[in-house]
This record gives sequence, C-alpha cells and structure tokens, in this order.
Amino acid sequence: MKNLNGLTAVITGSGRGLGAAMAIILADAGSKTVLCARNQSALNDVAGQIEERVGQRPDQVVVDLADNASIGRAIAQITEKYDTIDLLINNGAMWLEASDEPHSEQEVFGTINAAVTGSFLFTQGMLPLLKRSARPDIVTIGSISALPNAPLHSVAVPFYAAKHAQAAIATGLQQMLRGTPVRSLCVHPPYLDDISPADAEWDAIPERAKGERATNRDVCEAVMFAITRPRHITLSSITIDTDEGGLFG
Ligand SMILES: NC(=O)c1ccc[n+]([C@@H]2O[C@H](COP(=O)([O-])OP(=O)(O)OC[C@H]3O[C@@H](n4cnc5c(N)ncnc54)[C@H](OP(=O)(O)O)[C@@H]3O)[C@@H](O)[C@H]2O)c1
Repeated sequence: MKNLNGLTAVITGSGRGLGAAMAIILADAGSKTVLCARNQSALNDVAGQIEERVGQRPDQVVVDLADNASIGRAIAQITEKYDTIDLLINNGAMWLEASDEPHSEQEVFGTINAAVTGSFLFTQGMLPLLKRSARPDIVTIGSISALPNAPLHSVAVPFYAAKHAQAAIATGLQQMLRGTPVRSLCVHPPYLDDISPADAEWDAIPERAKGERATNRDVCEAVMFAITRPRHITLSSITIDTDEGGLFG
C-alpha cells in the first residue's frame, strides 16, 4: 500500500459503496479522511470501520449535494476545521435507472443537481483549501456513461447527461487550474460489484478473469495510482473497461 501519511482527503458519497471503499483504502494508506454523505448513521458506520482499522476516527460531514444550503453548511464546517486539504474525491452522485415511465421532477432535479451543480459548488468551496496544499488533487468519479458516444445501457438520460457534465467539469477545472498546483482528473468506472475492503472477497479480486465484472477495488487502485504520479503529469482521464458491464458489454 502507498504511503499517504499526512494527506487529508475529503470524499463525497462515502457512507457506502465506492466512496466508503475509497475512504477505507485512503485511511489504510495513512491519510486523514473527511467522510461526506447525506446519511449520518451510514457515515458513523464507515467511521467506526476506519477507526477499528487505523485507530483514528474520521470527521463526518452531512451534506446533500442536491441542496444549496446543505452544501454551504458543509463547506463552512470543513473550512472551520481545516486550513488545507490535499485531495477531494467527487464521488457522490444520484443513480437513476432507465424507465418506461416518465421520471419525476424530483428524480431529474436530484440527479442533475447532486452530480453537476452540487459537485461543482462543493468543489468551488474546497478550492481555497486545496490551493494551500503542496500536492492538491481533485478526482471526479465519472462513469463509462460519461464517455463520448457511450451506449445508454440501462441508465436514464438525466444520469447519462449528468455524467457527461461531470467529465466536462473535470476537464474545465483542469484548464481553469492550469498554472496552479491543483490537478483535476477523472476516473470512469464500468458497472461495479460493490465489494468493501472489509469483505473477505476483496483479497480475491486480483485473481478475477477477463469477462468478470469490475469492483470498487479496481477503481480505488486506479485513483491511488493516479494521485501518486509525479506532479508534472496529470492522468486526466482513466477509463476502466470490462467485457461484462463495460462500455460494449
Ligand atoms: N456502482 C457502479 O456500478 C458505478 C459505475 C460507474 C460509476 N459509478 C459512480 O461511482 C460513484 C459511487 O457509486 P456507488 O455505486 O458507490 O454509489 P451509488 O449506489 O450510485 O450511490 C451514489 C453515492 O452518492 C451518494 N449520493 C447520492 N445522492 C447524493 C446527494 N444528493 N448528496 C450527497 N451524496 C449523494 C450516495 O450517498 P448517500 O446516499 O449516503 O448520501 C452514494 O454514496 C457515483 O458517482 C457513481 O455514479 C458507479
């Protein structure tokens, strides 16, 4: 495992799934983690797991990325406690599956607002803290749905559009932050098996054969690789593809 001692990472959507796995892996590598999600009890649960593994309980910030006021409170809470953060992982995004029925306004607003408006406002709020770091990175968790001409598969059009917009935000930030120490990179996962580092199955993932699905571990390892590259390069876009659940699968 890489040594990330002294690094402070803020991870959205870290109460479950990929975000929780990412927080655990970063903590295992020595980072201080700030867990963000809507659900306080889910955050408590992940914080407990991390405390058990590394002996340090992460800070937890309740934030609904589809709610401006909630984003403002979260930014204020983090800014009050931290002068500097080194890594922001924009992982939180609302999933929306394709349906024969019209989507409700709430589903459409929620999907677009959490992934696009909320992630951008939250990132903007974290930028002053990132700019004080010697090694600042913004990682956007996109999707194969974010890639140009990606097949729609089972995703709803607002989710497809939101993921395209997240990829555009990552690229836009990379241009906007040219000449600053902050890198912006985007990782595009395929459909994932939701396996936690706490699950026994985690250790067997490297033995998977071609044709098996990708997992949280594969995304975590891509992120770890990207953020530990020398700082003169940015792995600006990483696509993780598979036969099953991948771009053409
Ligand atoms: N799983 C996959 O197959 C897959 C494939 C490609 C890309 N991705 C991307 O990977 C990321 C994580 O996906 P996942 O599968 O672990 O989770 P998921 O089941 O897609 O759930 C989304 C994550 O985002 C958070 N979230 C949703 N709405 C939110 C809101 N309004 N405010 C704050 N947080 C919100 C959720 O946390 P709370 O509900 O606790 O707030 C949860 O952690 C997402 O960006 C997803 O689009 C996933």
